[in-house]
Amino acid sequence: MQKKRRVRFIGTSLLLAFALALLISRPSSADSRWGANYFPNVELTTQDGKTVHFYDDLIKGKIVAIDLIYTTCQYSCPLETARLAQVQKILGDRVGKDIFFYSITIDPANDTPAALKAYAKKFHAGPGWTFLTGKKEDIDFLSKKLGLYSDPAATLDGHTPHLLLGNEPMGQWMRNSALDNPRFLSQMIGDFLDSFRNMKPTQEKANTESASLNLDPGQYLFAKKCGACHTVGQGDKIGPDLMGVTDTRNRDWLMRKIQNPEQLLAEKDPITMALAEKYGHVTMPNLRVADEDANHLIGYLVSQTSALNRQASAAKNAATKAAGGGSRDARPNR
Ligand code: HEC
Repeated sequence: MQKKRRVRFIGTSLLLAFALALLISRPSSADSRWGANYFPNVELTTQDGKTVHFYDDLIKGKIVAIDLIYTTCQYSCPLETARLAQVQKILGDRVGKDIFFYSITIDPANDTPAALKAYAKKFHAGPGWTFLTGKKEDIDFLSKKLGLYSDPAATLDGHTPHLLLGNEPMGQWMRNSALDNPRFLSQMIGDFLDSFRNMKPTQEKANTESASLNLDPGQYLFAKKCGACHTVGQGDKIGPDLMGVTDTRNRDWLMRKIQNPEQLLAEKDPITMALAEKYGHVTMPNLRVADEDANHLIGYLVSQTSALNRQASAAKNAATKAAGGGSRDARPNR
């Protein structure tokens, strides 16, 4: 099976990364707020009148973008849907192949499949974008589970336009405003895909984008570019847990690893060779990280590591105190 796959893809390492992600990201049940069991498998009906199940048919094994709409909504939905249509245009034929769009109505009493079909047509929704209706209570339950629910009384349109982006196999979910700039949204979605399917990286404008989202640029870049394969302090994913890596490796090496990982590999850098061995010959892709962004990322790794170390030693102190002190392994964390 592996051989067959290898033939189909040029980026062997990325494919392996994806396959591994399927295997690895699953078992850590403790932190998987978004496990398979999390998603209701409610029955929904598409604009073509086909019955589907939310988890099994729509999101399992897929990368998805989900929003809530209703066809008679006046303010935010038309804009939201138009934005998504632009995103679809930018992503082109990846929609329906690499990524699936779902717009679920929150007004199922009025939004019949036919009404949804007409709405989809109005916005030139292309293939890969499904409009869904169902039982009111199922949809409410679903929208609460997805974190897309908003109090109808509190907003002009009865809902807040959020877009949920998810990579079900990787267990990665993020919520954006569906009104975000379509270029930004498609870049976000594209990066989601690119981080493991396609080596066509782009340089970030971390400062402007993250500033508008109110995030630390390092944190933002990490979530966007590295989070598919790495955690800081939450264990190995496809690549190693990066907690403490700024203590064990020197800065020049880290810069090279982040910016030119393939060069280290070509030079048979001993650390890289050992890592490649350990991580099943999956190696880090070149994500075309600019200097400034690499600095932000390293800054983030340093600050995350020290924050986690502080937390751990505080917890340890508390535990030692509770146990009456004198524990043999009350050594501070590395
Ligand atoms: C497709 C998966 C993938 C992505 C995305 C990825 N990495 Fe990696 N990374 C790996 C793997 C696998 C290794 C271990 C093998 C190797 O060194 O090539 C690794 C190794 C590393 C190491 C060395 C760890 C050590 O113990 O010395 C660092 C540092 C690192 N990655 C940082 C990053 C940063 C920062 C990003 C985001 C810009 C990133 N990686 C994105 C897969 C990935």
